[in-house]
Amino acid sequence: MKKLLYTFDTDPIPSVFDSVVAYDGGADHVTQLSGINVDNCVGLVEGAIYTRAPKNKKNTAIFIGGSDLIAGQNLFQAVHEQFFQNFRVSLMLDSNGCNTTAAAGVALLNQATSLKGKTAVVLAGTGPVGQRAAVLLAISGASVRLTSRRQSRSVEACDEMMERFGVELTPMLARDTDTTTAALDGAHVVFGAAKSGIQLLTASQWQNHPTLELIADVGTSQVLAFEGINVMDKNTKRFDKIVFGGIGIGALKLKLHRACIAKLFESNDQTLDTEAIYKIAQQMT
Ligand SMILES: NC(=O)c1ccc[n+]([C@@H]2O[C@H](COP(=O)([O-])OP(=O)(O)OC[C@H]3O[C@@H](n4cnc5c(N)ncnc54)[C@H](OP(=O)(O)O)[C@@H]3O)[C@@H](O)[C@H]2O)c1
Repeated sequence: MKKLLYTFDTDPIPSVFDSVVAYDGGADHVTQLSGINVDNCVGLVEGAIYTRAPKNKKNTAIFIGGSDLIAGQNLFQAVHEQFFQNFRVSLMLDSNGCNTTAAAGVALLNQATSLKGKTAVVLAGTGPVGQRAAVLLAISGASVRLTSRRQSRSVEACDEMMERFGVELTPMLARDTDTTTAALDGAHVVFGAAKSGIQLLTASQWQNHPTLELIADVGTSQVLAFEGINVMDKNTKRFDKIVFGGIGIGALKLKLHRACIAKLFESNDQTLDTEAIYKIAQQMT
């Protein structure tokens, strides 16, 4: 029986990345649906849960993606609420790669050193990856500051993550050198999660920082968020700090993403959001 993956993308155009990784993760056929939301998903979910006999339902799965994490999170919940008894299929949330990227990054940091009791700063943390990275750093025992160029956006992101995970994150402003320096004051970990191609720190801002120990950036474009790191860095010592770059993290992210897709087809009751995906990442590090 064919393994069918339906991607429910909250964006108007579905993600090529999610499609490629879906096939590489073991799906036999991927159907990408775009513009999916809590109101129009009902019939689609019915199509997935009513069509195959109980023992065959594990061969159908739903993946939720798109660039808006809160829309994805709400859709994930709405789809899950439609499941009852054994009328369900496995489900994964990974808006803009938020869970797989954050889980890979934080699992690698945790492998490098314990995050318990550290102060971590997620710079430009209001996007999907940054919000989930902040949650996982907090779950790992760090005190976490999440920054934005607008204080109201950092407050909103911290509130959303508190509501979903019950973790307390500290919203902070970081829009120029002074506010970024203040956000990094006394910090041990900095995690860059900005939109691709944006520089957040000059080399001297992190290389000469008195307390920073771990430097991680998920960016993979030519302009890196942290000047002077290398995209391939993976547990690389630079200026007495441990550094991870976007490909250093991305290799595990891709492996993890594929492993999660494969897991969806193991049974019809997999629910893969941050916590479950992070567990898989930990098993892989
Ligand atoms: N390595 C990997 O395997 C991998 C996988 C997936 C994604 N990524 C990378 O992860 C990063 C985060 O992805 P995402 O989808 O969460 O990001 P995103 O939503 O595109 O952007 C994150 C945040 O960047 C800030 N930002 C936007 N323009 C900015 C500017 N001109 N100056 C300063 N900050 C700016 C915004 O925060 P405010 O408006 O609140 O300031 C925004 O919320 C991206 O670079 C993406 O390419 C890497």
